[in-house]
Amino acid sequence: MKKIVILISGRGSNMQALLETTLPCQIAAVISNRADATGLGIARAHGVPTAVVAHLDYPDRGNFDTALAQTIDAFNPDYVVLAGFMRILGAGFVARYRGRLLNIHPSLLPSYGGLNTHARALHDGVKIHGCTVHFVTPDLDHGPIIIQAAVPVLRDDTEQTLAARVLHEEHRIYPQAIRWLCKDQIELDEQDKVLFRYRKQSSFALISPGLE
Ligand code: GRF
Repeated sequence: MKKIVILISGRGSNMQALLETTLPCQIAAVISNRADATGLGIARAHGVPTAVVAHLDYPDRGNFDTALAQTIDAFNPDYVVLAGFMRILGAGFVARYRGRLLNIHPSLLPSYGGLNTHARALHDGVKIHGCTVHFVTPDLDHGPIIIQAAVPVLRDDTEQTLAARVLHEEHRIYPQAIRWLCKDQIELDEQDKVLFRYRKQSSFALISPGLE
């Protein structure tokens, strides 16, 4: 059975969604760069091994990345899953895990890379927002897209209500992406395109605010 390692920095709700669904792979470990990440306790409660590689213990990004890679590789995973991992990883780290490193981002990439995605979407008045699972490449938040979920932005939304609507979908699409990967239904090809062996497609249109 394939193995994944999940990297977190905080709450760990995406990690929890992965722990609480059926996956065709083993979650070999959860690693955090912060010892106080809430998600670590959730992982332990599920009997998953945890480790902390605290970025503050290293003089620079290169040293941190090396220590992190050593900790990851000790679990011998097929895939490394970033789930709210709040450190930027260097080009060497990203290259080491090419095609094996996934991230989830709370926007419809390539719109709203970076932080504060929900506030920026509300500020711009977009009517559709969402989340994206993508392969990680050196281009921050712009790696090849595997799956996206779109949600309507409602008239009375606050940052919190919009975030909650998006997060609900994050918890659905991340397990799906990992199922495809672990069942060899997708891969990253040499041209950095996502190759799909999975055939089903959607013809559903989300129109927001909605037609009369
Ligand atoms: C999620 O919104 C994820 O998309 C982003 O960071 C947040 C992490 O939340 N990368 P959680 O720790 O999974 O609850």
